[in-house]
Amino acid sequence: MTIWKSALEDALNKTRRNIDRFGDHFPHVGENGKYLLNDNTEWTNGFWSGILWLCYEYSGEDVYREAARSATDRFRDRLTAGTALEHHDIGFLYSLSAKAQWILEKDGAARALTLEAAETLMKRWRPRPGLLQAWGTEGDNENGGRIIIDCLMNLPLLYWASQVTGNPAYREVAAAQADKSRRFLVRGDDSSYHTFYFNQETGEAVRGGTHQGFEDGSTWTRGQAWGVYGFALSYRYTHNMSYLETSLRMARYFLERLPEDNVVYWDFDAPETPETNRDSSASAIAACGILELLEHLPGDNPNRAYLEDGVLRSMKGLVDRYSTRHRPDAEGLIERGSYSVRSGLSPDDYMIWGDYFYLEALMRLENRSKGYWYE
Ligand code: GLY
Repeated sequence: MTIWKSALEDALNKTRRNIDRFGDHFPHVGENGKYLLNDNTEWTNGFWSGILWLCYEYSGEDVYREAARSATDRFRDRLTAGTALEHHDIGFLYSLSAKAQWILEKDGAARALTLEAAETLMKRWRPRPGLLQAWGTEGDNENGGRIIIDCLMNLPLLYWASQVTGNPAYREVAAAQADKSRRFLVRGDDSSYHTFYFNQETGEAVRGGTHQGFEDGSTWTRGQAWGVYGFALSYRYTHNMSYLETSLRMARYFLERLPEDNVVYWDFDAPETPETNRDSSASAIAACGILELLEHLPGDNPNRAYLEDGVLRSMKGLVDRYSTRHRPDAEGLIERGSYSVRSGLSPDDYMIWGDYFYLEALMRLENRSKGYWYE
């Protein structure tokens, strides 16, 4: 058995236990090795339904499907109530719940729900500055003209909506956001800003900054990973070569800075001491992103061997040194993620998205699934 398969089997066993542990609740981030639970009110809740759908896809077992269906049903109420959607993370939420159900079960109601979610995300488009507003309400002083790199992972929901409806509007918004992100969030040396501000009235570029990184000019490792994966996905939908090149440049930057054990610290510019926090979730996201990128790079591209080696090193590092596979009772799949070191929020614990992307990468390595970002 490959190490990937043995890690997958462990993930399935843990998820089965977690279905009983979590009941109707959704895991978010860990605190002292226990997941904090909520009632489907966080930006992270799709990762739990995504894990359940992946486990069902791998095993075909009813226990995962029933739990996945039941978690996905809860996203219907969330959209109707609308209250827990006042941010851009609708793509994270609905790609891995309703869209996953549509992909796996061809359930018409799940498809309709996913399209409603895309419509809701479109309401965050601000024509004057020409951006999808990440956080806050329209006109908000701090956030009204602000983009963040994480948003690239919300764009596949819009590309997909154009693909299935034939209406180009969703795709145009997604591509405009990807273009703006490429131009302003990715720096000339292939590093990235976490966020960028624009004047809400004129659209004029103001400045780059950070929210969760070490400082405004630093490179938050998870942001860089969102860029690697997000641009590769924008390429998949549009075939715009500039997205593929940007994903590649960002991936090289990421891999060139792997520490000795191949799992990144939380920010590439944070001073390294024995106490510096890791962010295992950033390594898991980047692994998925590079595997996606490799699907599109031509066979004779000179970067392939470097990228393949980088993914294997990252995933081996996660499985061997950061996974909980030798602790069957652990709730999380990988340890030592960081939500926000800067704000002291779960700086060294489980992150449900870290677990999701770790599982997606294992599934990709075993050729069992590529997740639910595209159909
Ligand atoms: N998208 C929020 C985060 O990565 O923390």
